[in-house]
Amino acid sequence: MNTKLYNFSILLLTLSIFVSCKQQEKTFNSEENLKTRYHKFLDYKPDSLAFPRSFSVLKNEINKVPSKDWTSGFYAGNLWQLYELTHNNQYKELAQNWTSFIEKEKFNYNEHDMGFKVFCSFGQGLKHNKTNQEYKDIIIKSSQTLSTRFNDTVGSIRSWDFNKENWNFPVIIDNMMNLEMLFEATKISKDSSFHKIAVKHANTTLKNHFREDNSCFHVLDYNPETGTVRLKVTHQGYNDSSSWARGQGWAIYGFTMAYRYTHDKRYLDRAEATANFYLNHKNLPADGIPYWDFNDPSIPKAPRDVSAATVVSSAFVELYQFTKNQKYLEYSKKIIETLESSAYILEPTINAPFILKHSTGNWPKKDEIDEPIVYGDYYYLETLLRLKAL
Ligand code: GLY
Repeated sequence: MNTKLYNFSILLLTLSIFVSCKQQEKTFNSEENLKTRYHKFLDYKPDSLAFPRSFSVLKNEINKVPSKDWTSGFYAGNLWQLYELTHNNQYKELAQNWTSFIEKEKFNYNEHDMGFKVFCSFGQGLKHNKTNQEYKDIIIKSSQTLSTRFNDTVGSIRSWDFNKENWNFPVIIDNMMNLEMLFEATKISKDSSFHKIAVKHANTTLKNHFREDNSCFHVLDYNPETGTVRLKVTHQGYNDSSSWARGQGWAIYGFTMAYRYTHDKRYLDRAEATANFYLNHKNLPADGIPYWDFNDPSIPKAPRDVSAATVVSSAFVELYQFTKNQKYLEYSKKIIETLESSAYILEPTINAPFILKHSTGNWPKKDEIDEPIVYGDYYYLETLLRLKAL
């Protein structure tokens, strides 16, 4: 062998050993890191006034909220899902505790996030004990409370009560996520009124909330007396005509889930059209984790939103089951692969019950930018469980 060829072979060998060591190191670290992250949930003590919502890396501080916050149900939901993944009873005991703190929300008539709060906690708990009458009663009462926000003229559940000087009857795309609790409430109680409200809300959203390019608006404001649309605007997106990434996720997830309960083909078509808008967007990065808004002019410097990615990856497992289109499953698997690289797992030294970094909560308010957020973890764990169940 001449000297040049010999040197080249040595270089190749060294490179391949380096690459293989790096791969092993990455896999080892990620698995270890994930286990460490899961354990952090066991160290966080139950406190009915301190639901962990997000973690500020800058301040090294957990952002804690009471049960009335729209995110409270996700923490209990994470514990239920960790129990399902690990079969460790300690997660179950904590999940039961944190879930019980949310019961009083069944009487909260002031906003629409009942599905997130009650169904992501009590609903997850019900999966593990299908005869738990107490949990069923709480889901039914919560659905009755939520139903009081339904306006038959508009055909929607009112989302928010704030900003009354500008909005008369605001409905946000996120509200689709509440429908799962209503559909289930009818299955549990045999009272069809919840199912009917859910269908009317989905139909109104289907009719008004989407653009020609299949993306969706964030907020629609209706005239509650006539049902006509007054405004099509945003609250958490870049601007009124931009596509807020998590909002697209709520739409895809919401209509896929609504199809599960109704088999209305229009819902499946809507979920697919918005899924394709999302997947084919020129600003979707190669690793699959979207920027917080597809139209932020600072892309590629804009923050990512892991929570949008996990909402969509979870929805896509279900969308794949209904359509058998592999591209949805491939995206879900790619998201899990991306997130389980060390770049997205929170460092083991951080003592807080969160798993993933780089979610964006509310960019216009400069709140929870590029941080670990509880619902990013919730839909990550749900994706894992859905993939496992395939
Ligand atoms: N309101 C739910 C969200 O921020 O996505």
